Amino acid sequence: MSEQMGEWRRSHNCGELRADDAGKTVTLMAWVQRRRDHGGLIFLDLRDRDGLTQVVFYPDLSPAAHDLAHQVRSEFVVAVQGTVERRPADTENRELPTGQIEVQATGLKILNRALTPVFPIERETGVGEDLRLKYRFLDLRRPELQRNLRLRHRVTTAVRTFLDKAGFLDVETPVLTRSTPEGARDFLVPSRQAPGQFYALPQSPQLFKQLLMVAGFDRYYQIVKCFRDEDLRADRQPEFTQIDLEMSFVTPDDVMEQMESLVTHLWREVLGVDLGLPFPRLPYAEAVERYGSDAPDLRFGLELADVSDAVAGSGFKVFANVVGGGGRVKGLNAKGAGQELSRKEIDELAGFVAPFGAKGLAWIRIQPNGEWQSPIAKFLDDDARAGVTTALQPEPGDILFFVADTPKVVNLALNRLRSHLARRLGLVPADGLAFCWVTDFPLLEWDEEAKRHVALHHPFTSPRPEDMALLADTPRQVRAQAYDLVLNGTEVGGGSIRIHSPELQQQVFSALAIGPEEARAKFGFLLDALAYGAPPHGGIAFGLDRLLMLMTGAPSIRDVIAFPKTQRGTCVLTEAPSEVDPVQLRDLGLRIRQEKSG
Ligand code: AMO
Ligand code: AMP
Repeated sequence: MSEQMGEWRRSHNCGELRADDAGKTVTLMAWVQRRRDHGGLIFLDLRDRDGLTQVVFYPDLSPAAHDLAHQVRSEFVVAVQGTVERRPADTENRELPTGQIEVQATGLKILNRALTPVFPIERETGVGEDLRLKYRFLDLRRPELQRNLRLRHRVTTAVRTFLDKAGFLDVETPVLTRSTPEGARDFLVPSRQAPGQFYALPQSPQLFKQLLMVAGFDRYYQIVKCFRDEDLRADRQPEFTQIDLEMSFVTPDDVMEQMESLVTHLWREVLGVDLGLPFPRLPYAEAVERYGSDAPDLRFGLELADVSDAVAGSGFKVFANVVGGGGRVKGLNAKGAGQELSRKEIDELAGFVAPFGAKGLAWIRIQPNGEWQSPIAKFLDDDARAGVTTALQPEPGDILFFVADTPKVVNLALNRLRSHLARRLGLVPADGLAFCWVTDFPLLEWDEEAKRHVALHHPFTSPRPEDMALLADTPRQVRAQAYDLVLNGTEVGGGSIRIHSPELQQQVFSALAIGPEEARAKFGFLLDALAYGAPPHGGIAFGLDRLLMLMTGAPSIRDVIAFPKTQRGTCVLTEAPSEVDPVQLRDLGLRIRQEKSG
């Protein structure tokens, strides 16, 4: 049976009592972490979001409370009245902030009973994530998730304070809207009033925030949910949160500098860490050349070097053929890896890069006497050796790795190998924080499937003025006024200066094979707005969940979200998505076609 609180009022939380409070009469209301019976004495550890406090029941002090305490089990919700006592020195618990005291109970109420929890409310639960998500209300009681969500709150609070001071206005934008092209699939919501028509959930508030600039709001921000139906990974959710901003009359430098201040503010306020400013900036082309990625991890070296020219004429047919066919050969120098990696491990690395398209992984181990040990060494003439030496500076004990393929495959495979080797060789500093801006992205890229150009960022991104002339004939050479913020190899934010002239917007639409009619149909409201006095403007959006993953060190994006979706995009707690009532379908003018399986 459970009791009411009655006249009792909570006086303290479970994290705040200290030695100084000895002698006070207190009332605690909390969950029972555990109960221990010690021949007559009963101890309860009470837990709430603020901490743990030990309560002790003496049979003679309050026989009724002591009796009732026998019935208490883990996760019961109880109210305890008692007196704060200093613990004898030898029984103090130095691990707990409240470890110098205990509460000697004079009264106990069981406010609610609890079934035996399906997993222990501890750091290690010993159960799979699906079970944790199904009982998320229990999972969230665990200290780790309590800490993560508390940190999330502190981050969003710090964001709001900072942006408010910097003159940004928080404006809400619609959730039921039209598709905005951020490159993922839309989540659609059927309309009842217009059967056969659909709203799309926003992939981002991109166009609305631009309209707010046209409307003269000057500086906008929002901490906002975005929805993208894409394949999920450890750092992706179908609904996720952006810190979304837009500013009028700004250059890329203005946006990047303001955002550096914001990020510095967050790390200082929330984590007490001072970040060095400014963050390094890398043009996209350089990032890809040196690291094989537009989100390079700068916590360690292992830079890539191009050896295409050096090996083009070599006797190793694979390299010569790839270069001859327009491909590239790049390599990296795993410094000192000779001591660390066995021959077996070296051979296994070819399997590691295979899923990224690499058809092989050539290697050269530099022996202590300087000799090159390698399956391909015999094919490399003096010129090739000289070229490789200049590019990768090999020394005894190093291992060089090479991939020959299309630039895309070479960069992808070597970037992954680079991270893999850095971890394997212990090159990643434990608390390392390497922020960088990647700038000057290409405006567009070729989509082989669709057989047309698509925007790399989104179609509203402004080209660099000096590249504008290239738009008609060599559009792929046009660089955008776009910038991503990267932290430890993860893209945490991305933005750009936008197009604010209707003519230029039309031109870019045409380059993307969006004809005037399609442009009018899909983005007529934007073109109209641009025609009514749009200020130059630009902005950025941070992935809040990703930032939090990095701030907390959480291994999964799900660990910083209260109610996340599984990797399959489902909510196992509420069992969404679910079938709906046939009446609802009828109202929406929808019928489900039963696909024959197999
Ligand atoms: P973009 O598409 O680059 O830009 O998104 C901005 C940031 O959002 C995060 N992010 C995600 N986080 C979790 N799960 C996802 N599925 C997911 N997708 C993206 C990333 C990314 O850097 N409207 C533009 C911003 C602008 O131009 O101002 C936009 O949405 O950290
Ligand atoms: P093979 O002549 O196929 O036995 O290859 C000799 C070495 O070159 C092996 O270590 C292969 O892994 C490597 N190799 C083969 N193809 C490639 C490639 N496309 N890029 C890099 N290394 C390769």
